Amino acid sequence: MKLRKLAIVAVGASMTLALAACSGSPSSSPSTSANTDNTGALIGISMPTTTLERWNNDGAHLVDQLKGMGYNTDLEFADNKPDEQISQIQNMINNNAKVLVIAAIDGTVLGPVLQTAADAGIKVIAYDRLINGTPNVDYYATFDNYKVGTLQGQFIETQLGLKDGKGPFNLEPFAGSPDDNNAKFFFAGAWDVLLPYIQKGQLVVPSGKSPANDDAWQSIGIQTWATATAQSEMQNRLNSFYSGGQKVDVVLSPNDSLALGIEQALQGAGYTVGTDWPIITGQDGDLANVKNMLAGMQSMTVWKDTRQLGDEVSKMVDQILTGKTVDTNDTTTYNNGVKTVPSYLLTPQVVTKDTVEQYLVGSGFYTKTQLGMS
Ligand code: GAL
Repeated sequence: MKLRKLAIVAVGASMTLALAACSGSPSSSPSTSANTDNTGALIGISMPTTTLERWNNDGAHLVDQLKGMGYNTDLEFADNKPDEQISQIQNMINNNAKVLVIAAIDGTVLGPVLQTAADAGIKVIAYDRLINGTPNVDYYATFDNYKVGTLQGQFIETQLGLKDGKGPFNLEPFAGSPDDNNAKFFFAGAWDVLLPYIQKGQLVVPSGKSPANDDAWQSIGIQTWATATAQSEMQNRLNSFYSGGQKVDVVLSPNDSLALGIEQALQGAGYTVGTDWPIITGQDGDLANVKNMLAGMQSMTVWKDTRQLGDEVSKMVDQILTGKTVDTNDTTTYNNGVKTVPSYLLTPQVVTKDTVEQYLVGSGFYTKTQLGMS
């Protein structure tokens, strides 16, 4: 089922919000903190972990932006432990935070602590990952997650000439962490492109790890997006299903941390760049993966300039605390099981070896020195 086309049904009190906000153009909902001076207000920033590179960048940029606006910040990383994230958020509430910016580890377990936040009049922005099952999420800011997956699927479709009927090719698909709402969208975007080619026999999945539809994505999910888990999963597939001399032609990896583990497994199995190295997708533009792209070990990454996300969210915080209209540009896609959360979606960008300099160096995201480029 195409998530993008999922009919959003808003019921009860949220109907007014949904109908009023369904214009599709940048919308707004006035804040309740309009009449107080919030200079120096505390902003709680809750990030999942330091072990995945991007969240360190996200946190640091948010702090810079918010301090530059005159706010105080409390940046916490929860080591991918949902209970730790909940207690860190509770501490932020106890310390009189005015707005909470949360990149959820598990988007389904924050309901109780966010009720406490709501009771204290604290606004909540879901950062990059939607928070589900609670009305107490005021805004969501992310990159277009379904588009991330579509870009990965279309990259594979183009590189293999699938539209021209080419094949069969051996595909090994992976999905993200089963507790990450984004992973569902990444997979759906890619699978909506690739599954028809599996059904036509142009793509074959020798391991049999081929979800029958978008909703079955968690069957190939990698918990906490762990590189080591992806590596051992790929090793298992290579040992079990590729011992007869056949080769992997393409890997659908939803992000760079998984791609890194998959690349390590392929190297360990004797695959070499320029001879039998497969097409491999990724996401995030992590430094190690960009270096691997330059070395021919990864075919693409879907880059999400986390500075843009931090800029947008900092603006949302300031708009909330100064009583301005909060900018959103998508009021239909992200239903969190209780309501349609007004969202701001940014556009992700495919980067390949040939465009690393244009996008990643040109934008100042990396320096040539960091990338080992002359
Ligand atoms: C997702 C995020 C991706 C990816 C992954 C691992 O929720 O949107 O950028 O990096 O987490 O952190």
